[in-house]
Amino acid sequence: MGEAKDRAECQWHVSKREGESVNPEWVRLRINGQLHEIELQPNRLLIDVLRDDLRLTGTKRGCDDSSCGACTVLVDDEPQMSCLMLAVSYQEAEITTIEGVAADTESGQELDALQRGFAMEGGAQCGYCTPGVILAAKYLLAQNPDPSEQEIREALSGNLCRCTGYSQIIASVRKAVELARERLSSRG
Ligand code: FES
Ligand code: FES
Repeated sequence: MGEAKDRAECQWHVSKREGESVNPEWVRLRINGQLHEIELQPNRLLIDVLRDDLRLTGTKRGCDDSSCGACTVLVDDEPQMSCLMLAVSYQEAEITTIEGVAADTESGQELDALQRGFAMEGGAQCGYCTPGVILAAKYLLAQNPDPSEQEIREALSGNLCRCTGYSQIIASVRKAVELARERLSSRG
């Protein structure tokens, strides 16, 4: 991902919406290693900018009361709910959405161990919660590369899943731990 950031080009967007009364301002957001300059109303939520302006629709809106975690993104590597965040407040931050989790390699994109773990263990059913869950799990594994089931449950307690009963999600995170370990040992 570091290389992708170095290669990133600045993108320009203009966001004008009918009926908006507050003067827009130019905002610089770094998302998935790419710098975006966007003209925004200062009251725009990050989730709406991601989904509506930048078409990064992997970030989901699942509730109206900040209780589901479907909108989770990483801000400077820490999970945050983008439905609570004013986009203008995050101009100094590095924001990662689910679209930025796979690594860029010379031969194309390589899925993260978590993405492969979820595919192998059926951690995504309808998939609506999955982007937020994967980003929360990514933070967990960065802090604790070999978490217990209880630690996984606690780390994902802010992410609501209506489909899986969480057992496949836990298995998916454990599978990602296994895959990351195998990868490390294969590198010697
Ligand atoms: S949409 Fe943000 S917590 Fe539910
Ligand atoms: S997989 Fe459907 S909500 Fe989690």
